[in-house]
Amino acid sequence: MQYDYEYFKKAVYDLTSIDLNAYKEQQMKRRIDTLIHKNGISAYDKYVQLLKTDQSRFEEFVNYLTINVSEFYRNPDQWQLLDKEVIPELISKFGRNLKIWSAACSTGDEPYSLVMALSRHLPLQQIKILATDIDKQVIAKAKVGLYAEKSLAGVPGDLKQKYFTKIGPSYQISQEIKDRVEFREHNLLKDTYPSDCHLIVCRNVLIYFTEEAKEEIYRKFEHSLKAGGILFIGSTEQIITYREIGYERKNSFFYLKP
Ligand SMILES: C[S@@+](CC[C@H](N)C(=O)[O-])C[C@H]1O[C@@H](n2cnc3c(N)ncnc32)[C@H](O)[C@@H]1O
Repeated sequence: MQYDYEYFKKAVYDLTSIDLNAYKEQQMKRRIDTLIHKNGISAYDKYVQLLKTDQSRFEEFVNYLTINVSEFYRNPDQWQLLDKEVIPELISKFGRNLKIWSAACSTGDEPYSLVMALSRHLPLQQIKILATDIDKQVIAKAKVGLYAEKSLAGVPGDLKQKYFTKIGPSYQISQEIKDRVEFREHNLLKDTYPSDCHLIVCRNVLIYFTEEAKEEIYRKFEHSLKAGGILFIGSTEQIITYREIGYERKNSFFYLKP
């Protein structure tokens, strides 16, 4: 079985450029086995054949593999800190043209939250967010910008009223917020990183990666930041080797490149 999974990892890499060796193996293999089973298939090679010939199964696989649960203002306390301390500090250091990257942005909840948070400090026209993800399908959803009510639970009331329109059971984010975000496909394990960022937000994705992959990505983020820039991570994450990498820890979720 182990041999089979080795074969499967290689086949997946050839098909998708997703390197499963960088993801925590037990957890990922369990997820994959569950999906394969749901498709009524019992061997990896048969599943690979299916992925090669059936586009919708292929998309289902990539989407399932990449785990894209998200929500606006996820962990609102941390967004409060972003609003009250981090954004004012960045503006006073770097001025009003901030380069901000939402890495592994999923369905857009995070970059659109960033635009709304920044709108408390800057005119909308001055805000620009780069938002990237490995998964084409989540980017397509992000561009549509239609959300279930439960993913808006953390949005401050005034911003919800100002920037969302209720359409049936869903909420549509306004075009003026959408216009501030540029979406691009990007694989954190493989592609070149943007440079000279003032703020990088990467939350709730590295938890799925091995320690080695995480460390490498945190190092690359450090290279991507300008001196004085900040990395904002998820609430269940921590950078154990932050000193060695070159960060200062502002608090549990914000790391500064001195
Ligand atoms: C759980 S979501 C997190 C979304 C958002 N950052 C948040 O905290 O709500 C994880 C996202 O990471 C993306 N992802 C997984 N592996 C990736 C990789 N190697 N490179 C870029 N994005 C990746 C997935 O497609 C998914 O959209």
